[in-house]
Amino acid sequence: MDAKEYLMRTSRELDGPIRQYIDDEEPANLIEAARQYPYAGGKRMRPAMVLAAAGAVGGDRSKAVPLAVAVEYIHNFTLVHDDFMDGDRQRRGMTTIHVAYDVPTAILAGDALFAKAFQIIAELDVPDRNMREILKYVTRAVWDLARGQEMDVNNEGRIVSEETYIETIRLKTSVLFAAAAAGGALAGGADDRTVKALHEYAMALGLGFQIFDDYLGIAGDPSKTGKSVGNDIRKGKCTVMVTHAVKNIKDPKVLEEFKGILGNADATEEQVKRARSIMEDAGSIAYGRQLAQEKVTEAISKLDVLAPGEHKEFMIALARYAIDRDV
Ligand code: IPE
Ligand code: IPE
Ligand code: MG
Ligand code: MG
Repeated sequence: MDAKEYLMRTSRELDGPIRQYIDDEEPANLIEAARQYPYAGGKRMRPAMVLAAAGAVGGDRSKAVPLAVAVEYIHNFTLVHDDFMDGDRQRRGMTTIHVAYDVPTAILAGDALFAKAFQIIAELDVPDRNMREILKYVTRAVWDLARGQEMDVNNEGRIVSEETYIETIRLKTSVLFAAAAAGGALAGGADDRTVKALHEYAMALGLGFQIFDDYLGIAGDPSKTGKSVGNDIRKGKCTVMVTHAVKNIKDPKVLEEFKGILGNADATEEQVKRARSIMEDAGSIAYGRQLAQEKVTEAISKLDVLAPGEHKEFMIALARYAIDRDV
Protein backbone atom coordinates (compact mmCIF):
# COMPACT_ATOMS: atom_id res chain seq x y z
CA MET A 1 0.00 0.00 0.00
CA ASP A 2 1.31 3.42 -1.02
CA ALA A 3 0.41 5.87 1.76
CA LYS A 4 1.07 8.87 -0.47
CA GLU A 5 -1.34 7.67 -3.10
CA TYR A 6 -4.08 6.99 -0.52
CA LEU A 7 -3.42 10.40 1.06
CA MET A 8 -3.78 12.09 -2.29
CA ARG A 9 -7.02 10.26 -2.90
CA THR A 10 -8.54 11.21 0.47
CA SER A 11 -7.22 14.73 0.10
CA ARG A 12 -9.11 15.12 -3.17
CA GLU A 13 -12.18 13.59 -1.55
CA LEU A 14 -11.94 16.17 1.23
CA ASP A 15 -11.37 19.20 -0.98
CA GLY A 16 -15.09 19.86 -1.43
CA PRO A 17 -16.10 19.30 2.22
CA ILE A 18 -13.19 21.45 3.43
CA ARG A 19 -14.44 24.33 1.27
CA GLN A 20 -18.07 23.80 2.15
CA TYR A 21 -18.14 25.20 5.65
CA ILE A 22 -16.64 28.68 5.36
CA ASP A 23 -19.12 31.14 3.86
CA ASP A 24 -18.32 34.54 2.36
CA GLU A 25 -18.80 36.90 5.26
CA GLU A 26 -17.35 40.16 6.51
CA PRO A 27 -14.66 41.14 7.23
CA ALA A 28 -13.44 39.52 4.04
CA ASN A 29 -9.76 39.59 5.06
CA LEU A 30 -10.48 37.47 8.15
CA ILE A 31 -12.37 34.90 6.10
CA GLU A 32 -9.57 34.87 3.52
CA ALA A 33 -6.97 34.39 6.26
CA ALA A 34 -8.97 31.57 7.85
CA ARG A 35 -9.26 29.83 4.48
CA GLN A 36 -5.59 30.03 3.52
CA TYR A 37 -4.20 26.88 5.17
CA PRO A 38 -7.23 24.59 4.85
CA TYR A 39 -7.70 25.46 1.18
CA ALA A 40 -3.99 25.19 0.34
CA GLY A 41 -3.95 21.76 1.94
CA GLY A 42 -0.94 20.06 3.42
CA LYS A 43 -0.61 16.30 3.64
CA ARG A 44 -3.99 15.99 5.35
CA MET A 45 -2.75 13.04 7.37
CA ARG A 46 -5.07 13.63 10.31
CA PRO A 47 -8.34 13.72 8.36
CA ALA A 48 -7.18 10.70 6.36
CA MET A 49 -6.65 8.95 9.66
CA VAL A 50 -10.20 9.80 10.76
CA LEU A 51 -11.62 8.26 7.58
CA ALA A 52 -9.34 5.23 7.66
CA ALA A 53 -10.19 4.53 11.30
CA ALA A 54 -13.91 4.74 10.59
CA GLY A 55 -13.51 2.36 7.65
CA ALA A 56 -11.11 0.03 9.44
CA VAL A 57 -13.62 -0.69 12.22
CA GLY A 58 -16.25 -1.56 9.62
CA GLY A 59 -18.10 1.74 9.81
CA ASP A 60 -19.51 4.02 7.16
CA ARG A 61 -16.56 6.15 6.14
CA SER A 62 -18.72 8.89 4.66
CA LYS A 63 -20.32 9.55 8.05
CA ALA A 64 -16.90 10.47 9.39
CA VAL A 65 -16.22 13.13 6.74
CA PRO A 66 -17.41 16.08 8.88
CA LEU A 67 -15.16 14.92 11.72
CA ALA A 68 -12.25 14.66 9.30
CA VAL A 69 -12.84 18.27 8.21
CA ALA A 70 -13.15 19.41 11.83
CA VAL A 71 -9.87 17.76 12.80
CA GLU A 72 -8.09 19.39 9.86
CA TYR A 73 -9.52 22.81 10.83
CA ILE A 74 -8.26 22.30 14.38
CA HIS A 75 -4.84 21.30 13.06
CA ASN A 76 -4.83 24.39 10.81
CA PHE A 77 -5.86 26.66 13.66
CA THR A 78 -2.89 25.40 15.69
CA LEU A 79 -0.59 25.98 12.71
CA VAL A 80 -1.68 29.61 12.33
CA HIS A 81 -0.92 30.27 15.99
CA ASP A 82 2.21 28.10 15.97
CA ASP A 83 3.74 30.05 13.09
CA PHE A 84 3.36 33.29 15.01
CA MET A 85 4.77 31.70 18.17
CA ASP A 86 7.71 30.23 16.26
CA GLY A 87 8.26 33.36 14.19
CA ASP A 88 8.12 31.35 10.95
CA ARG A 89 7.47 33.02 7.61
CA GLN A 90 6.68 30.07 5.35
CA ARG A 91 4.05 27.32 5.57
CA ARG A 92 2.65 25.13 2.83
CA GLY A 93 4.81 27.13 0.46
CA MET A 94 3.00 30.35 1.33
CA THR A 95 3.62 33.34 3.55
CA THR A 96 2.34 32.65 7.06
CA ILE A 97 -0.82 34.40 8.23
CA HIS A 98 0.66 36.73 10.83
CA VAL A 99 3.13 37.95 8.19
CA ALA A 100 0.78 38.09 5.18
CA TYR A 101 -1.95 39.78 7.24
CA ASP A 102 -1.08 40.80 10.79
CA VAL A 103 -0.94 39.30 14.26
CA PRO A 104 -4.50 40.19 15.34
CA THR A 105 -5.86 38.62 12.14
CA ALA A 106 -3.78 35.48 12.73
CA ILE A 107 -5.11 35.14 16.28
CA LEU A 108 -8.68 35.60 15.10
CA ALA A 109 -8.36 33.38 12.02
CA GLY A 110 -7.11 30.62 14.32
CA ASP A 111 -9.92 31.16 16.81
CA ALA A 112 -12.48 31.20 14.01
CA LEU A 113 -11.27 27.87 12.58
CA PHE A 114 -11.30 26.39 16.07
CA ALA A 115 -14.94 27.43 16.58
CA LYS A 116 -15.94 26.21 13.14
CA ALA A 117 -14.55 22.77 13.91
CA PHE A 118 -16.99 22.31 16.77
CA GLN A 119 -19.91 23.59 14.73
CA ILE A 120 -19.11 20.83 12.24
CA ILE A 121 -18.76 18.16 14.92
CA ALA A 122 -22.20 19.10 16.23
CA GLU A 123 -23.59 18.10 12.83
CA LEU A 124 -22.17 14.55 12.96
CA ASP A 125 -24.69 11.81 12.38
CA VAL A 126 -23.67 9.46 15.23
CA PRO A 127 -25.41 8.15 18.36
CA ASP A 128 -25.35 10.52 21.35
CA ARG A 129 -22.95 8.41 23.36
CA ASN A 130 -20.41 8.37 20.52
CA MET A 131 -20.86 12.10 20.02
CA ARG A 132 -20.05 12.71 23.68
CA GLU A 133 -16.97 10.47 23.50
CA ILE A 134 -15.77 12.20 20.33
CA LEU A 135 -16.19 15.59 22.00
CA LYS A 136 -14.23 14.38 25.02
CA TYR A 137 -11.33 13.18 22.87
CA VAL A 138 -11.22 16.29 20.70
CA THR A 139 -11.55 18.88 23.46
CA ARG A 140 -9.01 17.07 25.60
CA ALA A 141 -6.64 17.03 22.63
CA VAL A 142 -6.85 20.78 22.13
CA TRP A 143 -6.35 21.38 25.84
CA ASP A 144 -3.31 19.10 25.90
CA LEU A 145 -2.01 20.67 22.72
CA ALA A 146 -1.97 24.05 24.42
CA ARG A 147 0.00 22.53 27.31
CA GLY A 148 2.44 20.96 24.86
CA GLN A 149 2.90 24.18 22.92
CA GLU A 150 3.59 26.04 26.16
CA MET A 151 6.17 23.41 27.11
CA ASP A 152 7.70 23.71 23.64
CA VAL A 153 8.10 27.46 24.09
CA ASN A 154 9.40 27.05 27.63
CA ASN A 155 11.98 24.56 26.36
CA GLU A 156 13.46 27.12 23.97
CA GLY A 157 17.01 28.05 24.83
CA ARG A 158 17.30 25.29 27.43
CA ILE A 159 18.57 21.75 27.29
CA VAL A 160 15.80 19.50 28.57
CA SER A 161 15.85 15.76 29.19
CA GLU A 162 14.69 13.36 26.51
CA GLU A 163 11.80 12.51 28.82
CA THR A 164 10.63 16.13 28.92
CA TYR A 165 10.98 16.38 25.15
CA ILE A 166 8.88 13.24 24.60
CA GLU A 167 6.20 14.55 26.95
CA THR A 168 6.22 17.85 25.06
CA ILE A 169 5.66 16.24 21.67
CA ARG A 170 3.13 13.80 23.07
CA LEU A 171 1.10 16.83 24.09
CA LYS A 172 1.72 19.19 21.20
CA THR A 173 1.51 16.65 18.37
CA SER A 174 0.40 13.12 19.29
CA VAL A 175 -2.84 13.97 21.04
CA LEU A 176 -4.47 15.37 17.89
CA PHE A 177 -3.48 12.33 15.83
CA ALA A 178 -4.85 10.19 18.66
CA ALA A 179 -8.13 12.11 18.76
CA ALA A 180 -8.37 11.69 14.99
CA ALA A 181 -7.95 7.92 15.20
CA ALA A 182 -10.18 7.43 18.25
CA GLY A 183 -12.78 9.85 16.89
CA GLY A 184 -12.84 8.14 13.51
CA ALA A 185 -13.24 4.77 15.21
CA LEU A 186 -16.11 6.13 17.33
CA ALA A 187 -17.78 7.64 14.27
CA GLY A 188 -17.47 4.18 12.71
CA GLY A 189 -19.14 2.59 15.75
CA ALA A 190 -16.13 0.76 17.19
CA ASP A 191 -16.13 -0.89 20.63
CA ASP A 192 -14.11 0.62 23.48
CA ARG A 193 -11.22 -1.81 23.15
CA THR A 194 -10.72 -0.95 19.49
CA VAL A 195 -11.03 2.78 20.14
CA LYS A 196 -8.35 2.48 22.81
CA ALA A 197 -6.02 0.49 20.54
CA LEU A 198 -6.33 3.01 17.71
CA HIS A 199 -5.76 5.83 20.17
CA GLU A 200 -2.53 4.17 21.29
CA TYR A 201 -1.51 3.56 17.67
CA ALA A 202 -1.86 7.22 16.78
CA MET A 203 -0.20 8.37 19.98
CA ALA A 204 2.95 6.40 19.14
CA LEU A 205 2.75 7.38 15.46
CA GLY A 206 2.57 11.04 16.49
CA LEU A 207 5.79 10.73 18.47
CA GLY A 208 7.63 9.21 15.53
CA PHE A 209 6.10 11.81 13.22
CA GLN A 210 7.25 14.76 15.33
CA ILE A 211 10.75 13.38 15.91
CA PHE A 212 11.06 12.99 12.15
CA ASP A 213 9.57 16.45 11.64
CA ASP A 214 12.30 17.88 13.84
CA TYR A 215 14.79 16.07 11.62
CA LEU A 216 13.22 17.66 8.52
CA GLY A 217 13.42 21.00 10.30
CA ILE A 218 17.19 20.59 10.31
CA ALA A 219 17.92 18.55 7.21
CA GLY A 220 14.82 18.99 5.04
CA ASP A 221 14.59 20.79 1.71
CA PRO A 222 12.44 23.94 2.16
CA SER A 223 11.33 23.75 -1.48
CA LYS A 224 9.71 20.43 -0.57
CA THR A 225 8.59 20.95 3.04
CA GLY A 226 7.22 24.38 2.17
CA LYS A 227 8.39 25.73 5.50
CA SER A 228 11.39 27.44 7.00
CA VAL A 229 14.40 25.19 7.68
CA GLY A 230 17.06 25.85 10.32
CA ASN A 231 14.89 28.00 12.55
CA ASP A 232 14.66 25.35 15.27
CA ILE A 233 18.42 25.75 15.67
CA ARG A 234 18.20 29.54 15.67
CA LYS A 235 15.43 29.45 18.25
CA GLY A 236 17.31 26.91 20.38
CA LYS A 237 14.49 24.35 20.22
CA CYS A 238 15.53 21.43 22.30
CA THR A 239 14.75 18.44 20.10
CA VAL A 240 15.78 14.88 20.92
CA MET A 241 18.73 15.32 18.55
CA VAL A 242 19.94 18.38 20.42
CA THR A 243 19.63 16.63 23.79
CA HIS A 244 21.56 13.69 22.39
CA ALA A 245 24.23 15.93 20.87
CA VAL A 246 24.88 17.84 24.06
CA LYS A 247 25.39 14.54 25.89
CA ASN A 248 27.51 12.95 23.19
CA ILE A 249 29.78 15.60 21.69
CA LYS A 250 33.19 14.48 22.92
CA ASP A 251 35.35 17.53 22.21
CA PRO A 252 34.61 20.39 24.67
CA LYS A 253 35.57 22.96 22.02
CA VAL A 254 33.06 21.52 19.57
CA LEU A 255 30.44 21.46 22.32
CA GLU A 256 31.11 25.11 22.99
CA GLU A 257 30.81 25.90 19.29
CA PHE A 258 27.54 23.94 19.06
CA LYS A 259 26.03 25.73 22.05
CA GLY A 260 27.10 29.03 20.52
CA ILE A 261 25.07 28.39 17.37
CA LEU A 262 22.06 26.93 19.17
CA GLY A 263 19.62 29.68 20.07
CA ASN A 264 21.53 32.31 18.11
CA ALA A 265 18.75 34.11 16.26
CA ASP A 266 21.28 35.62 13.85
CA ALA A 267 23.09 32.37 13.02
CA THR A 268 24.05 32.30 9.34
CA GLU A 269 23.16 29.53 6.94
CA GLU A 270 26.77 28.32 7.27
CA GLN A 271 26.54 28.14 11.05
CA VAL A 272 23.25 26.25 10.90
CA LYS A 273 24.90 23.78 8.50
CA ARG A 274 27.82 23.44 10.90
CA ALA A 275 25.46 22.71 13.82
CA ARG A 276 23.83 20.03 11.71
CA SER A 277 27.14 18.43 10.80
CA ILE A 278 28.20 18.46 14.47
CA MET A 279 24.99 16.63 15.30
CA GLU A 280 25.65 14.17 12.50
CA ASP A 281 29.16 13.47 13.81
CA ALA A 282 27.80 12.94 17.33
CA GLY A 283 25.39 10.32 15.97
CA SER A 284 22.45 12.49 17.06
CA ILE A 285 20.66 12.53 13.71
CA ALA A 286 20.88 8.75 13.46
CA TYR A 287 19.73 8.49 17.06
CA GLY A 288 16.64 10.62 16.36
CA ARG A 289 15.74 8.56 13.33
CA GLN A 290 16.20 5.32 15.26
CA LEU A 291 13.93 6.57 18.04
CA ALA A 292 11.29 7.62 15.50
CA GLN A 293 11.51 4.13 13.96
CA GLU A 294 10.92 2.51 17.37
CA LYS A 295 7.79 4.62 17.92
CA VAL A 296 6.43 3.66 14.53
CA THR A 297 7.07 -0.03 15.15
CA GLU A 298 5.19 0.32 18.43
CA ALA A 299 2.33 2.12 16.64
CA ILE A 300 1.92 -0.63 14.06
CA SER A 301 1.85 -3.31 16.76
CA LYS A 302 -1.32 -1.73 18.16
CA LEU A 303 -3.24 -2.45 14.97
CA ASP A 304 -3.52 -6.17 15.64
CA VAL A 305 -7.11 -5.57 16.82
CA LEU A 306 -8.18 -4.66 13.29
CA ALA A 307 -9.47 -7.09 10.70
CA PRO A 308 -7.30 -7.18 7.57
CA GLY A 309 -8.28 -4.83 4.81
CA GLU A 310 -7.44 -1.73 2.82
CA HIS A 311 -7.98 0.72 5.68
CA LYS A 312 -5.78 -1.23 8.05
CA GLU A 313 -3.12 -1.45 5.35
CA PHE A 314 -3.28 2.32 4.97
CA MET A 315 -2.89 2.84 8.71
CA ILE A 316 0.25 0.70 8.66
CA ALA A 317 1.57 2.54 5.61
CA LEU A 318 0.74 5.91 7.17
CA ALA A 319 2.83 5.08 10.24
CA ARG A 320 5.77 4.21 7.99
CA TYR A 321 5.24 7.33 5.89
CA ALA A 322 5.31 9.51 9.03
CA ILE A 323 9.04 8.85 9.25
CA ASP A 324 9.83 8.39 5.58
CA ARG A 325 8.79 11.57 3.78
CA ASP A 326 10.35 14.73 2.39
CA VAL A 327 7.24 16.89 2.84
C1 IPE B 1 2.89 20.20 10.93
O1 IPE B 1 2.07 19.13 10.64
C2 IPE B 1 2.84 20.46 12.39
C3 IPE B 1 3.45 19.42 13.20
C4 IPE B 1 2.79 18.80 14.13
C5 IPE B 1 4.83 19.08 12.97
P1 IPE B 1 2.04 18.46 9.20
O2 IPE B 1 3.42 18.12 8.78
O3 IPE B 1 1.05 17.37 9.20
O4 IPE B 1 1.57 19.68 8.30
P2 IPE B 1 0.68 19.69 6.98
O5 IPE B 1 -0.74 19.60 7.48
O6 IPE B 1 1.06 18.54 6.12
O7 IPE B 1 0.96 21.01 6.35
C1 IPE C 1 3.86 22.15 15.49
O1 IPE C 1 5.06 21.93 15.96
C2 IPE C 1 2.91 21.55 16.49
C3 IPE C 1 1.64 22.21 16.48
C4 IPE C 1 1.22 23.03 15.57
C5 IPE C 1 0.78 21.94 17.60
P1 IPE C 1 6.33 22.58 15.24
O2 IPE C 1 6.38 24.03 15.51
O3 IPE C 1 7.45 21.76 15.68
O4 IPE C 1 6.03 22.27 13.73
P2 IPE C 1 6.34 23.08 12.42
O5 IPE C 1 7.75 22.72 12.07
O6 IPE C 1 6.15 24.54 12.69
O7 IPE C 1 5.37 22.55 11.41
MG1 MG D 1 6.37 25.67 14.23
MG1 MG E 1 6.08 25.13 17.26
